[in-house]
Amino acid sequence: MKRPEPIDEEIELKNNIYIESDTDLKGIITYVNDYFAEISRYTPEELVGQPHSIVRHPDMPKILFKILWDRIQHGHNFIAAVKNLAKDGRYYWVFTDFEVLKDEHDTPIGYKASRKKISKYVTDMLDPIYKKLVEIEKESGTYASEKYLTDFLESYGDDITVDNMLEEIHRLY
Ligand SMILES: Cc1cc2nc3c(=O)[nH]c(=O)nc-3n(C[C@H](O)[C@H](O)[C@H](O)COP(=O)(O)O)c2cc1C
Repeated sequence: MKRPEPIDEEIELKNNIYIESDTDLKGIITYVNDYFAEISRYTPEELVGQPHSIVRHPDMPKILFKILWDRIQHGHNFIAAVKNLAKDGRYYWVFTDFEVLKDEHDTPIGYKASRKKISKYVTDMLDPIYKKLVEIEKESGTYASEKYLTDFLESYGDDITVDNMLEEIHRLY
């Protein structure tokens, strides 16, 4: 499928309605709720069977997805602010919670993501950091952006780790 051309226009999300999707262990979409399809401007049939990167926005730094996969593959949640790309090129920001889906023998079979609207306060705060990370990735790759992110977090002192930064974002949300 051809990737949509991004346009600088935001999709307004409703409060308190979750945008949900499930994937298999490789990130192939196995389920989307109606609101996910509506907001992304795809039909559920167009989404199911596709890699979840179908809604990846080029403004999203690669390092965040690397951390996401490292964490969920180790059974940890990851709460992330994600900018997604709709089929019509517009974008929407969501606050995403991930969960491991398991079968009756407790064996992981996939992942679930639940997303909700995020406050503009948080996206305004993250936007310049994400832009910087994308710029570093273009110039020097993901290893360099990981270092920038780690150094950035360390500059806030010993208390700031990816985990408690996420908690803080959760609190602000
Ligand atoms: C349950 C689940 C939900 C995901 N949701 C999104 C999403 O909404 N937007 C997105 O860009 N990536 C999402 N991803 C991450 C993608 O699988 C992928 O890693 C990311 O889009 C980066 O693409 P790339 O790995 O091809 O560079 C999700 C992954 C999982 C497991």
